[in-house]
Amino acid sequence: PPLHQIYNLMDFEYVARHTMEANGWAYYSSGCDDEITLRENHYAYQRIYFIPRILVNVTNVDFTTTMLGCKSSVPFYVTATALGKLGHQDGEKVLTRSCGSHGVIQMIPTLASCSFDEIVDAALPDQDQWFQLYVNSNRKVTEKLVRHAEARGMKGLFITVDAPQLGRREKDMRSKYLADAAEVQDEENDGEIDRSQGAARAISSFIDTGLCWEDLKWFRSITNMPIVLKGVLSTEDALKAISCGVQGIVLSNHGGRQLEFSRSGIEILADLMPILHKRGLTDKIEVFVDGGVRRATDILKAIALGAKGVGIGRPFLYAMSTYGDNGVKKAFQILKDELLMNMRLLGVTSLDQLNEDYVDTRGLLNR
Ligand code: FNR
Repeated sequence: PPLHQIYNLMDFEYVARHTMEANGWAYYSSGCDDEITLRENHYAYQRIYFIPRILVNVTNVDFTTTMLGCKSSVPFYVTATALGKLGHQDGEKVLTRSCGSHGVIQMIPTLASCSFDEIVDAALPDQDQWFQLYVNSNRKVTEKLVRHAEARGMKGLFITVDAPQLGRREKDMRSKYLADAAEVQDEENDGEIDRSQGAARAISSFIDTGLCWEDLKWFRSITNMPIVLKGVLSTEDALKAISCGVQGIVLSNHGGRQLEFSRSGIEILADLMPILHKRGLTDKIEVFVDGGVRRATDILKAIALGAKGVGIGRPFLYAMSTYGDNGVKKAFQILKDELLMNMRLLGVTSLDQLNEDYVDTRGLLNR
């Protein structure tokens, strides 16, 4: 369908499913195991209802915000997703350009298809970007990546902490198997990377299984970028992160691709924020959430529950893969239009007016 017939972010997914190459679709869309967590990420938002306010002058609505000191036109960012060229020949640069034209922050993945420098070069001079780090077992390699990211102006270091090993994504494995069967066997396989089990397994060998809390001091010593732990799933670890002095956490289960039956970020947020309030810790850390965010209503629920911003992954990959730059820009515009409308309907004119009194969370699993 032509782009003007795309009305929401789910529409991009539908088009992607029917038009993308099989292995790209499999890598992007898959979750781990039985994909229960993947599904729950989306469903969790449906357990929260709004408590709007009436008779507020909502003529002028402002949804700009600041995340890790970076100005953003919206309270969401493009989260890191590996292997952009499985969806578009320009890979992550499509996301970079679209972010530049819409004032959206992009988190650049370690395992991007384009080189890091290519992606940074595709940004406008004043465009803020963050860097997502997979920690390599060779710390010299890791240190080089981090120092280079800072030198190139990255405004945040997101250390992925939920992937000591990559989850088992069977859709991806199956698709890779079929691709292999159809093509000539890959002779280049040097034995170091086992490519027979899909894209996810192939990149798993890069990641350090030994990463632990003590390492955070070392990261602090090699960079001045704000440090954010991406993949926190418990209140206990959130409190530990604060005591380690990191600047932020992302409550995330990696888009349902890692530990099956991990809770969704929004559920954990609803548990965590009252505890941070009670202990007077809300100013100590910026809390982000990702996974299953598809509508501005999802974003506004997370903001009301205390998130500084939310990360969105797959929808932008699908928009990029189906309609390129115009698709991603359209996805941003759809969310901006939805933000404006829903803030008006909620009776708020800026994000800081939202709080837990605007949401009914009694439907959440922990209530
Ligand atoms: C990811 N994610 C991810 N996270 C990360 O820290 N490093 C990475 O390289 C990747 N790669 C990646 C690839 C693909 C195809 C997906 C779908 C996801 C996880 C990502 O940052 C984020 O946590 C989720 O994508 C959020 O869920 P939604 O918005 O995709 O539902």
